[in-house]
Amino acid sequence: MTPKHDTPFTRQVGIDFPIICGAMYPCSNPELVAAATKAGGIGIIQPISMVFAHKHDLRAGIKLIKETTKQPLGFNLLVEKSSKKYEDRMRVWLDIALEEGVRFFITALGNPRWVVERVRPLGGIVYHDVTARKWADKAAESDVDGFICVNNRAGGHAGTISPEQLLADIAPLGKPLICAGGVGSEADYIAALRMGYAGVQMGTRFIATTECRAHADYKEAIIKAEESDIVLTDKISGVPVSVIRTPYIERIGTKAGWLSRRLLRGSRTKHWMRMFYTLKSIWQLKEASQKGASYKDYWQAGKSVRGIEVIESAEVIVRRFGEAGLTASKR
Ligand SMILES: Cc1cc2nc3c(=O)[nH]c(=O)nc-3n(C[C@H](O)[C@H](O)[C@H](O)COP(=O)(O)O)c2cc1C
Repeated sequence: MTPKHDTPFTRQVGIDFPIICGAMYPCSNPELVAAATKAGGIGIIQPISMVFAHKHDLRAGIKLIKETTKQPLGFNLLVEKSSKKYEDRMRVWLDIALEEGVRFFITALGNPRWVVERVRPLGGIVYHDVTARKWADKAAESDVDGFICVNNRAGGHAGTISPEQLLADIAPLGKPLICAGGVGSEADYIAALRMGYAGVQMGTRFIATTECRAHADYKEAIIKAEESDIVLTDKISGVPVSVIRTPYIERIGTKAGWLSRRLLRGSRTKHWMRMFYTLKSIWQLKEASQKGASYKDYWQAGKSVRGIEVIESAEVIVRRFGEAGLTASKR
């Protein structure tokens, strides 16, 4: 196919607009993923979210998305080496995604080599999440096809480097780069493309949509938040996560206790501690996103809240941003 908006990314993946609806635990429900893909962008399936937060069997969930759209879908794999059981599960999930026709993969955290080796012979494309050049260099050794450049404005596990600097640092590797973080409005989107990115990945913008199943209180909090309300906390997962500063966050603070920090640093205790944090955060984030303000409101969001003013359909967002970017690219 010829993409409407031709960039190295849309060409590789076969979509109209260079817009990714990023993987979000626990906010990636199948209806949201389907809406972004249907409108000409690409929705990313987050398997942990699909299975544990939204209670779909993975294959059935992918089939549900395919009832709405036959266009390309993406799949998120957190490839960190934690336990044998987790790794085996990732491999099974990857095979299910391939069998269901998924050909775009976004890997994060560990070494993406085994994913590249598995999907490339089948025509698959792998982009790796990076927050700095040193991680991009490592992933380039595994011959990934592109990079998701997670900057210091992103929701979720934010980076520390500005979008401009990340682009300058990683562009010499000669692969397509996606800007992840800080894109909430059409103006932000156009600015990222003008900077030289081949596309954008948005998370926070897609939570405040009609298709996202997150609690209405969470969506409202995104609409109301200013950029200055976004703070980093390491209380959730042991590494900094961007959240909205709610009264709950103010009350408990944003720094992990000294014992947790010490255990996270120790060579023998850090794996155990990470496992503990993973299980705790999987539960806590799910509760917070689904139960609303009555619960502990751990609401993840990035500085893109600045440009987000209404709850609207993800399909409408992708089409409107996509057309605005196309028009701007012709000027
Ligand atoms: C609630 C939330 C959950 C996220 N979960 C994941 C995840 O499971 N895997 C992943 O690779 N990225 C995850 N991200 C990052 C997003 O895919 C995306 O890169 C990021 O949200 C971009 O920044 P933005 O929120 O400013 O648009 C998450 C982001 C948010 C806001």
